[in-house]
Amino acid sequence: MKVICVIGAGYVGLVTGTCFADLGNRVTCVDINEEKIATLNAGRMPIYEPGLEEMVLRNVKAGRLFFTTSYAEGLKDAEFVFIAVGTPSGVDGEADLQYVRMAAESIAEHMDHPLIIINKSTVPVGTGDWVADIIRRKRPDGPDFAVVSNPEFLREGSAIGDFLNPDRVVLGSLDPEAAERVAQLHLPLRAPIVITDLRTAEMIKYASNAFLATRISFINEIASICEELGADIKEVAAGMGYDRRIGHQFLDAGVGYGGSCFPKDVKALEYMASIHGCHPQLLRAVMEINRDQRRQVIQKLRALLGGSLQDKVIGLLGLAFKPNTDDMREAPSIEIVHLLQHEGAQVRAYDPVAMENARRVLPEVTFCRDPYELAEGCDALVVVTEWNEFKQLDMARIRPLMRQPVLVDGRNVYDPTAMRELGFTYRGMGRGYGN
Ligand code: NAD
Ligand code: UGA
Repeated sequence: MKVICVIGAGYVGLVTGTCFADLGNRVTCVDINEEKIATLNAGRMPIYEPGLEEMVLRNVKAGRLFFTTSYAEGLKDAEFVFIAVGTPSGVDGEADLQYVRMAAESIAEHMDHPLIIINKSTVPVGTGDWVADIIRRKRPDGPDFAVVSNPEFLREGSAIGDFLNPDRVVLGSLDPEAAERVAQLHLPLRAPIVITDLRTAEMIKYASNAFLATRISFINEIASICEELGADIKEVAAGMGYDRRIGHQFLDAGVGYGGSCFPKDVKALEYMASIHGCHPQLLRAVMEINRDQRRQVIQKLRALLGGSLQDKVIGLLGLAFKPNTDDMREAPSIEIVHLLQHEGAQVRAYDPVAMENARRVLPEVTFCRDPYELAEGCDALVVVTEWNEFKQLDMARIRPLMRQPVLVDGRNVYDPTAMRELGFTYRGMGRGYGN
């Protein structure tokens, strides 16, 4: 059993802390958000993540998992301190490090014994050195400490499985002994452990996210070409994916990537490269193609609804940036709603779990109880998030509820032929000529 403190009880911090507790360690999660800590201490989850609630409650009950707003309490007896605070986009796309700075300063203020400080937040190359500097300057005669970079690769919606079965654990440090101790902590995960220097570890995270975003924009560009040339992107992607050098994952064409990570991390890498005199043309193209995917939905609707969306009623199936999460950060739905409203359309929406969060960012939208209520009186339905429950909707029941049977499938969930047979005017993303 190790004693661990996790700073930041968001998606990453809460999952990290809970999983380390589940592995038998004693973990205290510290967050400055009092409401979040009160919610967790009341046995409720501040986020929707499959499997999390059960695991949190089990470990709290076993006396291995604690939540507090107090750094002093969190750091007491801790050997390892993970920083897992947010690093949102700043004004020019750079990573905003104010929360990392605050966390480093608070650790410096409260540390009273040697610590290994492990940065899990996604941070620009050089941040590990900067964190060490902040602590050294604040506590020149303070206890010894080492900084280790340990980027996180979990995905929302499958965060627990991803954390417990990682493809690799990346550790970067200038202190080999500290890196080795953090490696020991990860041994129960039985994953390959890559030990490298701080800056290389920080870059592995950005390069990984940017590469995945690039795959998505690549397949979206091929989808646009497919649409003009009469090929079907789903079959093209499947045919490509059998090549083991390519693989099947992250080749789903659609309305593009969203979420709290890809958009901000591609932007931050582009910014980092630009200010260092590099020309990140590929990253710029990746972002531009991603923006285009949202615009394509509007163009398809316009083409199918007589050229104008003024006063048309458009129903969105799904709002979250991807299935199995209630996270609305940078969700493609937000941009699609804004574009539709700009064109004078009335927007209705249904999402199985993200509607509460969506209400805060999309106040002008009418939220519906289920997909059938959503369809009533719609001129078109648009699939924005491929929730499982949309895959087997009773589409024969949906069609007559609509004013016009137009279906724009932004995630290529449905079979075009089956939808046409049911009487829908169907358009997917890159699915053959006219599809
Ligand atoms: P989040 O916004 O869900 O959580 C961050 C938490 O940190 C919040 O609860 C906030 O109150 C808390 N916080 C902020 N400043 C603090 C401070 N000084 N002391 C204590 N708590 C503080 O963020 P997240 O999605 O968990 O992301 C955290 C980091 O991990 C980001 O850098 C992100 O890029 C990276 N990341 C996220 C994911 C993901 O799927 N969400 C995956 C991999 C990496
Ligand atoms: C992503 C990475 O997959 C994680 O490895 C990483 O840890 C995380 O970012 C992060 O750094 O925070 P996440 O954002 O949770 O995880 O979700 P993904 O499953 O990667 O999906 C991101 C976006 O890409 C979603 O909007 C999804 O709809 C879209 N996507 C994904 C596609 O459009 N096509 C695909 O083939 C795959």
